[in-house]
Formats: sequence, structure tokens, C-alpha cells
Amino acid sequence: MWGVCPVTMQKKEKSGGITILDFGSQYTQLIARRIRELEVYSEILPWNASPDIILSGEPKGLILSGGPRSTIGPDAPRLDRSLIEGKISVLGICYGMQLIAHTHGGEVKKGRLGEYGRTKVVFKDGNGEKILRGVPASIDVWMSHWDEVSRLPDGASAFGASESGALAAYSMDGGRITALQFHPEVDTTEYGREMLSNFLFDICGCEPNWKLGDWVKRSLDSVASAVGETDRVICGISGGVDSTVAAVLVSKVTGDRLDCIFVDHGFMRKNEPEQVVEAYKKLNLRIRHVDASEKFLSAVKGLTDPEEKRKTIGELFVRVFEEEARKCGGAKWLLQGTIYPDVIESGFTGGDVIKSHHNLQLPDDMKIELLEPVRELFKDEVRRIGTLLDIPEEMLKRHPFPGPGLAVRCLGDLKRERLDILREADAIFIEEIKSAGLYDDIWQAFCVLLPVRSVGVAGDVRTYGETAVLRAVASRDAMTAESVRLPWEVIDKTAKRICQEVPQVGRVAMDVTGKPPATIEWE
Ligand code: XMP
Repeated sequence: MWGVCPVTMQKKEKSGGITILDFGSQYTQLIARRIRELEVYSEILPWNASPDIILSGEPKGLILSGGPRSTIGPDAPRLDRSLIEGKISVLGICYGMQLIAHTHGGEVKKGRLGEYGRTKVVFKDGNGEKILRGVPASIDVWMSHWDEVSRLPDGASAFGASESGALAAYSMDGGRITALQFHPEVDTTEYGREMLSNFLFDICGCEPNWKLGDWVKRSLDSVASAVGETDRVICGISGGVDSTVAAVLVSKVTGDRLDCIFVDHGFMRKNEPEQVVEAYKKLNLRIRHVDASEKFLSAVKGLTDPEEKRKTIGELFVRVFEEEARKCGGAKWLLQGTIYPDVIESGFTGGDVIKSHHNLQLPDDMKIELLEPVRELFKDEVRRIGTLLDIPEEMLKRHPFPGPGLAVRCLGDLKRERLDILREADAIFIEEIKSAGLYDDIWQAFCVLLPVRSVGVAGDVRTYGETAVLRAVASRDAMTAESVRLPWEVIDKTAKRICQEVPQVGRVAMDVTGKPPATIEWE
């Protein structure tokens, strides 16, 4: 069952859905999400799960994801051929497409240039490929590969090529196995949704019967069987959407066996601790406010490396929670609001480590067990579940805030005085965005304090002040993001107010970078 452990490596109930084998792509969860949007159950298993486990839920189809490796490299993840020899429908995407060819006697080679980004593909459909139903003969797709299939396996037939002439699509066994070099799950791919829908409904014969309400029921059952009748649970809450939804969900099972712990690590935004405690009281959840700011500040003293900071904060969080667990009647479980982008970016699905999210850097000797019911959901899904659970809108609409808080937005010397400067500047920016009526349309807006000073002049006197950066991004799921084009009046007023009301700041800049190439947070 989802959520309680990262990857359920046990046999499953019959799902009637799709199993995605994860070869380490940044997009694997997007595939799962697109399938859920089409109301079909989907789950992700690592590429090396045993065929027994992969097939135990009797999925109607298998999707082989993309991945960062080369099928012709020495350390390439492999495919157990027996998995796709039977009757099951299979869709290979990017690495998955190359792997099917490689496994069945085709040839994969390093391409001359590789293809990255938007690419035109032309389909030549001689066999009436079901996946192409309703798809025009020429579309733009999202490519991201270096290797290409240079010779097809016996019995395979090509039905698409990109402008460079590289093979873009083929099928085998009368269309039971379909392989695409491009990513239908990425928004840029035109008709990607149609192709996935064709795979689910026309090729695999799935039914659109998976609903978020069902997820809640299944998740409650799963939590109930984990915590039993007597276990106590503590929940690390930040006041954000993810931990709030996790806490309200689990409280339905545990009742007053749940204690919510708000750890103030000293990296919170202005007035945040008071606001969070108030909001939780209204939710009728028992909350303990732990002021651990001295401990955290002294642990990160002198640290400037982003990963070192993140790991130190992550470990200290756990130590504080262990102490609180003892105080709360010996709680056995630590409930966390970990969501899937945290998991992907921390490299837990086999991809590259982008940054270690605080709630995933857990010490080996941790003395408390983890409960993570929303671990495989995206933020917008968590928000929708929050609505089903009657959590007030203003809590669900709060902009995401990273667990390590301002520690990853205050670059350079992490001292209380600099954090106070950042808190004030950030509060002004958010106030201006709210008063312009823009807050709910923005994924995330915040200030960053740079370790750079610059020369200015105020009242005829030379200044040498701090630099604050404004960042506002639009995103659907934090996997990619674009800078928001804020009205000039908002930027101008914010900059003026920051320099006047926070005199230590001498310069305000704006970060207009997207993700990629940047990440949303600076560290
Ligand atoms: P990045 O910076 O990786 O952020 O583009 C993606 C989203 O995740 C949030 N974030 C975190 N959330 N713990 C969290 O709970 C963390 O350690 C963490 N780091 C980043 C970030 O604010 C953005 O919404």
C-alpha cells in the first residue's frame, strides 16, 4: 500500500492498474501522475524488483521509464525478459524504449548529437497503431536522450522518426509492446495525454476507476494496520500543507494517540511560530511548540555548504523528535509530510541527488519508525486531499516552505541578526504580493539574503549593505518552475520598502531563473 514505506516490496492485491518500473528518470512520477489524472491506479516499483512482486498485483500494463544511464554501459539497469514475454501490455519510454530493443537483439548506439528539448516527430503508421488514435501525423515532442536505437529487434516495426532521422517509435507483437523515444508524460509533448490514454484504455483495457477519495480510504486502512490499536505517533509539523494533511489524515485513525510537534529551529518566517500554533488549535490537533532555535543555530554555525547545512539540520530534527517521542508516552512512530518531489530530488528513486530534503536525511541509528502517508503524492494532489479532509483553504493555499526554512535562503553567515533581516524583508515582499491580490496565483514567493555586500548612498552617507533577492515562481508540482512576471509596481514598491524599513539591506535584486536550470530554493 502507498505511503507507509518508500517502495512496497511485498505482494499486492489485484490492482487492475499500471505498474511503472523506475529506471531513474526525473519524470517517473510524472508518468504515475498522468495516469492517475486519467483515473487509473498506478504504482512505481524500482527496476530491479522481482518479477514475482511486479506481477503480483496483476497490473494490466507495464511502463518502463526513462533513466540517466546508457543501456550499453557497464552499470546499466537491465530488464528481466520474462516480464514482457507474456501477455501483458508494455510501454517503453526513452531508456525503456532502448532497453526493450537491447533486450530483444536490437542495437543501441550513442547518437551523433543526441536530442534534447522540443523536437518534431513524424509518424508513419502502416499497422494502425492504437497508441496513435487521434494523434496527427506530425507533432512536437519532448526528447532527452543521447543513445538511439540503430537496429530494431526482429519482428519490430518502426512507426515514427524525428527530424534528424533517429528512430522515435516502434512496436512489437501486434502493438502489445509499444516503445517511444520521447516523453509523452511531459507537457511539451503534444498529444502526450492522448497517447497515454490510448495505452491505458485501448491497449491495456484499464477502467477509469481510481479516485482520490479511494486513496484516502486505502491510506487510512494502511495507516491503521501499521499503528494498530495502541501505538502512539508524533508528527513533525511545519504548518505547511503536507504535514498538515498528513496529521489530519492520521488523526482520523489514531485520535488522541497523535501529538503534533512544531519544532522552531530559528529559521522560521516572521510571526510563523505563533500563527502555526493558533491554526493547529483550530484543527483540534494537540500541538507541542518546541523552541530548539539555540540548538539549531549552534549546530549550523560556520556551515556554508548547502548539503552540509541540510544534513546537519535533518539529523538534528530527528534527535529533537526522538526526545519528544520519549516525552509523549514513548511514541513509536514519527509521522512526516514527505511528498514525492522531496523523494525524487533526494535521489531515492535512482536519479541524481539534486538536494537532500531535510526529512529524508535520516540517521541510520534513528530510534523511531517513519510513517509517510503522502510520500507518493504531488503537492496539488495533497491539496485536493486536504480539501476532502475539510482543512481550511488558507492552510492549503500557503506557499510551500522548505523544512530547513530560512537556513537555505540565508546564504553565508547564518547568524540570528542576518536571519532577522531576511525575516523582515521576506514579510514585506509577501505583504506586497498579498495586497496586490497575487498570492494565490503564485506557487511560491520569498526573499533570499546573499553573502554579498554592496556600496550605496543614503542621506549623503556611504552605505555598505546586504543584498536581498526577490524570487517568485509559477509551478504545477515543483519539478519545473518559471519565474513569475510580477507587475513592476509591486517589485518597485517592495524594493523601496525593504531598503527603507530594513536599513541593513542596501540593494534588492530579482531572480528570474526558471527550474531548470536553477532550483526553486537557492540551496
Ligand atoms: P527545489 O529548491 O528543489 O524545491 O526546486 C522544490 C520544492 O521543494 C521545497 N523544498 C523542500 N521542502 N524540505 C521540504 O519540505 C526540504 O528540505 C526542501 N527543500 C526544498 C521547495 O521550497 C520547493 O517548493
